[in-house]
Formats: sequence, structure tokens, C-alpha cells
Amino acid sequence: MTQQYGDYQNEIYFDGLRGVLPTLPTTYPELEAGAWAALPPAVRSYVAGGAGDEHTQRANVRAFERWGLYPRVMVGATRRDLSVDLFGHTLPSPLFMAPVGVIGLCAQDGHGDLATARAAARTGVPMISSTLTADPLEQVADRFGDTPGFFQLYTPTDRDLAASLVRRAETAGFKSLVVTLDTWVTGWRPRDLGTSNFPQLRGHCLANYFTDPVFRARLAKAPEDDPGAAILEWVTIFGNPLTWDDLPWLRSLTDLPIILKGICHPEDARRARDGGVDGIYCSNHGGRQANGGLPALEALPAVAEAADGLPVLFDSGVRTGADVVKALALGATAVGIGRPYAYGLALGGEDGIVHVLRSLLAEADLIMAVDGYPTVADLTRDALVRL
Ligand code: FNR
Repeated sequence: MTQQYGDYQNEIYFDGLRGVLPTLPTTYPELEAGAWAALPPAVRSYVAGGAGDEHTQRANVRAFERWGLYPRVMVGATRRDLSVDLFGHTLPSPLFMAPVGVIGLCAQDGHGDLATARAAARTGVPMISSTLTADPLEQVADRFGDTPGFFQLYTPTDRDLAASLVRRAETAGFKSLVVTLDTWVTGWRPRDLGTSNFPQLRGHCLANYFTDPVFRARLAKAPEDDPGAAILEWVTIFGNPLTWDDLPWLRSLTDLPIILKGICHPEDARRARDGGVDGIYCSNHGGRQANGGLPALEALPAVAEAADGLPVLFDSGVRTGADVVKALALGATAVGIGRPYAYGLALGGEDGIVHVLRSLLAEADLIMAVDGYPTVADLTRDALVRL
């Protein structure tokens, strides 16, 4: 029988009858406030902050309020099916965890990548593991269980290093490659600038580089012996401003499905499609990279249309189950969250992430029940009205 995510509320209510009250919040503002208190100042400002005065980051969230879902009655949506097909995998739900480079540091023990991978195994919600992890990608992949994992590549300028990272990801069992295009240079982030805070420059979350044979061969001394020199070397190779001419090379690196992350213009979606990618990832990096941009949700319908049947992953500003449902109705095949699961991890470790994922899915599922949309396929543009 298909899993009914909404049943999570029964668990919570019945626990209450025997005196067991929830320890983790069920609203985003409470989650954010709790994580704020739990995280060290440098990590919390890095996670919570965005580019410029954070207008785009706020607009990402508010954009969802401009769409309303029509309730449809007498549908009898007593059982819902939230499963989706993605790159040959049937996923139990359309939710995924977006790559978060410092997720390692959000855990109290400094191993947040591993906790996230374990949460993915428990929930069936895939993790896209960043290039910037505290633990090497092989150890992350080891904890995915039966849930497919995706590897996110920050393409370095050294092509041999790029090839090595991709090869390692393939060997470790990652099921697809997400190439992020909007972060070859770091956006202007006043919160981090104000405290001169950039975690990677302090040597955090560089495990994939420091364990890589191609990266190590570039160094006079091993990173363990001279971390400062290794960090400086990382600075010189990190960001590669790719152009469309690089797409055939990227394609040549792997047979895994390739998804381009950071696409918000329909023309770019068309070029990506024509260039032979397997998926489009509509995102503005949660407003962390360029301020003054349009909310990612506003970009989604045209990008989805231009994708013309290719799977479209979406993130930026998703905070509730209602947001998940709206993004699906606007053309997303799968919907990602960034900060919400980072905060769940900060507050409750692996269980905290599981709680955040289950809460989002429960709310989405119950909205689909109440409003009469029993499957993801029922969520189309016609389900929404522009407010
Ligand atoms: C990110 N994001 C990101 N994206 C990526 O492709 N590689 C990465 O390493 C990171 N790192 C990262 C760190 C932190 C602290 C955050 C908050 C985000 C962007 C991420 O994948 C996603 O696009 C946004 O987080 C989605 O927006 P919300 O859900 O945070 O609003």
C-alpha cells in the first residue's frame, strides 16, 4: 500500500495522548529560531544569509503567496500517491535535499553530510551531496541505503580534477551529476563580509579535494602537513566560469544523467536541452548568489515549458508543504529544500532532518487530500490561480 505521508499527524496527536509532546517545531519560523540558537555564529550567518540586502532571498519565499490552489470537492482523494519518476528511479515523493556545502558543519558533531545521507536512507528523500563536504563523497554515498544519491559538481578549472571527482562519484554509486553554474565566483554576501567569514578559507568542507589524487598531486606537501598551502591551491582551482562550449566536455565525463543547476531563463533551458543534458534545475541558489533577481518560482513556468518534457528540479524559497504542491503545479518534477533541512539538522541531528522532511510531506499530502488532487500528475497549472 502506498505510504500516506499525512499519517505523520496521527503519530504526533496519538503521542500527545500518552503525554509525549513534540520536541521539534512544526513551523518554519520556530525551526529557524531554534537553529539560530543552536548553531555557532559563523555557521548560522553563513547558512541564513544571502546576497546583497537579501531582497531576492525574501522574494523567493514570498513568491509562493502569489499563487492559490483551487480546492476541488467530491474527488474522494482518500489515498494519495506522491511518487515521481526521475532518471529511471521511482521516488516515493517529489521532495529532495538540495546541495548545501556547509551541511557538515550544521551537525553538532561536524559530520552533517553523513547525517543527511542517513536521513535520505530513512525517508527515501534523495540528497544531492555538494562538492564541499566535511566527509569524502565515498563515505557519504555509503550511507544512502536504497535511496538514490546525486552528486553536485562545482567544476574546478583543472579538467583532470573535474574528471577525477566525477569518476569517484560514479564509482561510489551516485546516480546522477548536478553541475552548478551560478557559483564560479561567490556573490556579495554582506553578512559574511561583515564578519570576514568564509568557511572554506578556514579549511572547512574541503574533504573531496584533500582526498583526491589529482588535487593532491598538485601540492608540494600533503594537505595534512601543510593545510594552508592546500587551501590556497583550492582557491586557485575552485571556480570555473563554464560556457556553452564546455557542455560537450562535461557530457564526455560521464554516462550518468547530467542536470544543470541555476537555470532561470527559458532560452538557457532550451540551450541546455539542445546540448544533451538530462535535466534542468531551476534555482537562484536560494538568493545567495545575486541579489536583485527574480524569485525562482516566477522563472519556473517558462523554464518548465522550455524544458519540453525533460525533468525539471526546482528549489529556492520552499518552506512549507503548500509550497511543494505549488511548485509541482507550476511544472517542477521534483522540489528541493536547502535551509529547512540544514536547520532541522542543527536542531535535532539526523532525526531533525527526518522530522523536517516528514512534516513537509505530511502537509503536502494533506493539502492534496483536502483539495482533491490524489496524484502529482493531477497538479497542473489549472490547479492554481494567480492572486
Ligand atoms: C547552498 N546551496 C548550494 N548549492 C550548490 O549547488 N552547491 C553548494 O555547495 C551549495 N551550498 C549551499 C550552502 C548553504 C548554506 C545554502 C543555504 C545553500 C544552494 C542550495 O542548493 C539551494 O539552491 C538553496 O539552498 C535553495 O534555497 P532555500 O531552500 O535555502 O531557500
